[in-house]
Amino acid sequence: MPKDKLFVVGIGPGAKEYITEFAKKIIKNADLVAGFEPAINIIRDLINTRAEIIVLDYASEKPKLNMIRSKFRDSKRCVICCVGDPNFSDQQFIKKIRSACSQTGAPRNEFRGTCVTAPCGATSRSAIPPDGTSESSGIGIEVIPGISSVQIACAKAGLAMEDIRFITFHKSGSLKAEKMELIEAAKLGKNIILLPRPWDFMPQDIAKFLIRKGIPPKTRISVYENLTLKNEAVFRGSLENFLEKDFSDLSIMIIKQNRLRQKL
Ligand SMILES: C[S@@+](CC[C@H](N)C(=O)[O-])C[C@H]1O[C@@H](n2cnc3c(N)ncnc32)[C@H](O)[C@@H]1O
Repeated sequence: MPKDKLFVVGIGPGAKEYITEFAKKIIKNADLVAGFEPAINIIRDLINTRAEIIVLDYASEKPKLNMIRSKFRDSKRCVICCVGDPNFSDQQFIKKIRSACSQTGAPRNEFRGTCVTAPCGATSRSAIPPDGTSESSGIGIEVIPGISSVQIACAKAGLAMEDIRFITFHKSGSLKAEKMELIEAAKLGKNIILLPRPWDFMPQDIAKFLIRKGIPPKTRISVYENLTLKNEAVFRGSLENFLEKDFSDLSIMIIKQNRLRQKL
């Protein structure tokens, strides 16, 4: 495991079988493993007993990311774990990691990789360079993809990824643009996969929103909950059946229409 990079590793949606061999290797060799509690719980037994574990939470995220940066500079092999694939619906988190790593300080191991990324803090996915590495003020970050919860949802729903509009509401701040995108895609009859936002834009709120915006209440939807875990469940019905139903934060909503392709 190279010591000159900080790894951001995707660890799959929950079941150990979905952790890649590469992710396992990186985690086992790390001196410091960080992540939000759901991520740490997935990989806890892979972590070396001598390694330090940092459990992130929204309240202390910034100081803890700064602490990770300091430990990295002290020559610790550091890994930050993300549920699923970091390249899907984790851009705000990656932005914060990049921002913490861009703080000034002597670069470790004289890392002098070519800076091919957009400036630190860029939010679009295209800001991640093709080889998944970036340099920000001396700290190289390498993103290792994992198996995303949306890949599992596609497989369960029998949907090809190229036929789907993915929309994530799992972000902080305004959801206005995503809501507009959702209405547009729903009206065009697209297949849509949605990640709700815990806890203020959950499947029942999304169903209410869609009906309020003129989408027919009989439109078919599915909600996949706790994918790959022991308590995995799927709920199918029409929008009007979901208005009062509560779901866990590990939920993915699918609107399967594909009206345009069916017409072809
Ligand atoms: C911050 S996003 C991260 C998504 C992740 N990067 C991925 O590729 O799966 C977290 C959201 O992903 C979805 N999610 C993650 N794991 C899941 C699972 N096992 N079952 C259902 N949904 C899941 C939920 O919508 C959850 O709120």
